[in-house]
Amino acid sequence: MTDRAATAQACPAHQGRDDRKSGHLADANLRPQPGARVFGSFAAGRDILRSNKMRQGGAASDATDLSNPGDISFFFLDGDLHRKRRAAVAGLFAPKTIVTRHKAVMDRTMDVIVADLRRRGSAPLDELSWHMAVDVAAEIIGLTDSDSNANLAERVRSVLDSSATRKPGWLGNLVFNAKMLIRAGRFYKHDMVPAIAARRVTPKDDVISYMVQENYSKKGMIMECLSYGGAGMMTTREFIVMCAWHLFEKTELRERFLNGPEEDQFAILEEILRLEPVASLLHRRVAEDAEIGQAGAVKSGELLAISIRAANADETITGACPYELDPDRAKRMKVVGPYMSFGDGPHRCPGAQVALHETRVFLDRMFRLPGIRLVSEPKVSWNAFIQGYELRGAVITCDPA
Ligand code: HEM
Repeated sequence: MTDRAATAQACPAHQGRDDRKSGHLADANLRPQPGARVFGSFAAGRDILRSNKMRQGGAASDATDLSNPGDISFFFLDGDLHRKRRAAVAGLFAPKTIVTRHKAVMDRTMDVIVADLRRRGSAPLDELSWHMAVDVAAEIIGLTDSDSNANLAERVRSVLDSSATRKPGWLGNLVFNAKMLIRAGRFYKHDMVPAIAARRVTPKDDVISYMVQENYSKKGMIMECLSYGGAGMMTTREFIVMCAWHLFEKTELRERFLNGPEEDQFAILEEILRLEPVASLLHRRVAEDAEIGQAGAVKSGELLAISIRAANADETITGACPYELDPDRAKRMKVVGPYMSFGDGPHRCPGAQVALHETRVFLDRMFRLPGIRLVSEPKVSWNAFIQGYELRGAVITCDPA
């Protein structure tokens, strides 16, 4: 039976088929911050995220000292300072920069990944997607003077992955902080110091050059680089594996992906991201009493949680059968493809187009390899700290070169 015929058969009722792979785990584990009022409607979420009465919220931002903005990542800032810092790096994410500069990095990285895979015969998929995610983000950040990209990838992974194994409670925090200090120190010494030194001599167009020019503190630079790492590398690693898993499984969808124009390839990836958003919750703290469109009245100091998963399945904007993978949905409903998966408003993900392009390049090359197969499916687990899924254990093989 074709994918489409299966859809038609399985969807006589309102809800239709559930194509989500991370849905049940998210339903069972999703935990908004204590005391947060949760919003699941797309319109309410959008109005909250676009409102200038909101500040970044949630555990990490509440614990962040905002008195010295030079010490913190712009992820935690709001208002004019946030706008200024975003504007300074906006060109790095512009469509033209992606096509003229980042696409070359993606192609080069894919050459290395493919050659390595064909030599080895098989490889863990998340290792390959991590390689791509790190190379692309490293170019944007300016982490291009390390001893090798493989070592850079390993050092960044060791800092960021410690969040996944973090235990709750004070002892967990203590161990986490000690581990983080050592690992972040290693990353600073081997990856950031040479990059900073090179840019003091010859500035480039990247985040580190901007931070050098603006005299960021050491702490501020580390925080900013790691924020980009968390925001851009960890997310894309999972997204690539998730898309690959769906496409390995669904023959008709895979053929459509391989034979269609780029625009259609993006529509497929965006629809997978709608169903399987890598970030599930966004928190905001209300700065003053206000009436916020569809969200209604909010009180100063209140903590709000926008459920991306619920907003992405809001039938007023998805149409019927919101859990079915339907790449034509967004066009039919006249909605932006990823729905709320990249957030909205002033903090909306600047790297959205970068992530979609690198995922497209990765999958387009991978699925054209002779003999490509998924020999072991990934296991889905829940990272409580970042409130997102992780996919480990997927192994792919292909014919040797
Ligand atoms: C599939 C991949 C990705 C997903 C799902 C994703 C998701 C998101 C989301 C939901 C936000 C909004 C956070 C908020 O409103 O509080 C965000 C912000 C951000 N993302 Fe992404 N992202 C991805 C890839 C990337 C990439 C590749 C980069 C850069 C190389 C990047 C850099 C950032 C940055 C710097 C922010 C903070 C923006 C701000 O606070 O103004 N992201 N991302």
